[in-house]
Amino acid sequence: MDIASVVLRKPEAEDGFFVNKLISEIPELDSNSCYCNLLQCSHFSDTSVLAEIEGEVVGFISGYRKPNDSDVLFVWQVAVAQKARGMGLASKMLQQLLQRKVPSPVSHIETTITDDNEASWALFNRLARDANATLVRSLIFDRCDHFNEQHDSEFLARIGPFLP
Ligand SMILES: CC(C)(COP(=O)(O)OP(=O)(O)OC[C@H]1O[C@@H](n2cnc3c(N)ncnc32)[C@H](O)[C@@H]1OP(=O)(O)O)[C@@H](O)C(=O)NCCC(=O)NCCS
Repeated sequence: MDIASVVLRKPEAEDGFFVNKLISEIPELDSNSCYCNLLQCSHFSDTSVLAEIEGEVVGFISGYRKPNDSDVLFVWQVAVAQKARGMGLASKMLQQLLQRKVPSPVSHIETTITDDNEASWALFNRLARDANATLVRSLIFDRCDHFNEQHDSEFLARIGPFLP
């Protein structure tokens, strides 16, 4: 698979079903309803990005501006199809989101990651490194207090500042 042939663009409602399929095929990700992905691809299109190769959806990042802190882009899920991994696609998608500057430049990116998700920590550490920014890690959703022991704890990764 050639990274040069990947098209990155804002998602549209018609992509929602295929995004849902991509996510359902990635065991590390919590599954979503198709309806949730339809909303991400329509209401949150400006802060989400889709990657396709010859019309096939191979990557997706859902995100939104935090309602009470709109300088922060919250990254909800990052998904790259198995066959498209390891060639910088997730990093490229994050860069595209940062470059959009709509409605205003992003000062920080936040996301949550489980302790054992090495690929995800590597992805966001690389983002911080490339931007000469800092990654601060803290517990946000606890296995016991928030997930009733049904899900591993989620750690907040806050990265920034990104300079305009
Ligand atoms: C995490 C994920 C999105 C990375 O996608 P990708 O396109 O392969 O990532 P990139 O090629 O842009 O790599 C970014 C960095 O992560 C590192 N990395 C990628 N996969 C890795 C893995 N399995 N283990 C350790 N490091 C990994 C790369 O080496 C690179 O770091 P470097 O530049 O310091 O070497 C992809 O593996 C995935 O979809 N995983 C399942 C879903 C998931 O866990 N999503 C994140 C939580 S929401």
